[in-house]
Amino acid sequence: MTETVLVTGSAGFIGYHTVKRLLADGFKVVGLDALSNYYDVSLKEARHAQLTHERFIPVIGRVETPGLMMELFEAHNDGYVIHLAAQAGVRYSIENPRSYLESNINGTFEILEAARAHPPKGLFKLWGMNGTKFANVRTLNPCAELGIKGKVWHQTRLTAFRNIPSISIKVL
Ligand SMILES: NC(=O)c1ccc[n+]([C@@H]2O[C@H](COP(=O)([O-])OP(=O)(O)OC[C@H]3O[C@@H](n4cnc5c(N)ncnc54)[C@H](O)[C@@H]3O)[C@@H](O)[C@H]2O)c1
Repeated sequence: MTETVLVTGSAGFIGYHTVKRLLADGFKVVGLDALSNYYDVSLKEARHAQLTHERFIPVIGRVETPGLMMELFEAHNDGYVIHLAAQAGVRYSIENPRSYLESNINGTFEILEAARAHPPKGLFKLWGMNGTKFANVRTLNPCAELGIKGKVWHQTRLTAFRNIPSISIKVL
C-alpha cells in the first residue's frame, strides 16, 4: 500500500527537496504551503509546479487556520507528517513579529492538536537552532525575542507532547 506523507512548507527550500525525494521513493505526498511572501512567491509557485505528479496533492493554505490541520490529519492519519512550514529567520521578527506568532506558534499549536486527535505514524519537526546560540539577540531588540521565544515555546510544547504515548514525535 502506498504510504502518505503530509509535508507542510512543501514549496519552501527544504520542503520542496523533501517532497521530491518522497515522490521518488514511492510515497503519496500531500503538500501544504501558504506561498507566503517572505521571499519570491513565484519561486515557490515554480517549485510546486515542478512537483506535479499523480501522487502529489498540493494544498494552498496556512497551518494556523483553525480546523485545516485537523481535517488533513483526519484524512491522512495512516501516514507521516513532516512539519517544515514556518516563518524562518530571526532578524525578520523585528520587522514582522506577527508572522512568527501566526505561523510558528499558532501553526505548530494546530499541528500538535491535530496530532493529539488523529495521531500520525510519525511527526517530524525540523529544528532551526539551539536556544543558546542567539541568547544575546535579546539585548539587541525586544522584537527579536519573538524568534527566540518561539523556539523556546516549541521546545517546551514538543517535549510535553513527546510524553503522549500515542504520538511519535521526532525533532531533527
Ligand atoms: N534552510 C536552512 O538552512 C534551515 C536550517 C535549519 C532549520 N531550518 C528550518 O526548516 C524549516 C524550513 O526552512 P526552509 O529553509 O525550507 O524555509 P522556507 O522559508 O524556504 O520554507 C518555509 C515554507 O513555509 C511556508 N509557510 C510559511 N508560513 C506558513 C504558514 N503559516 N502556513 C503554511 N505555510 C507556511 C512558506 O511559504 C515557505 O514555502 C524552517 O522551520 C526553518 O527554520 C532551515
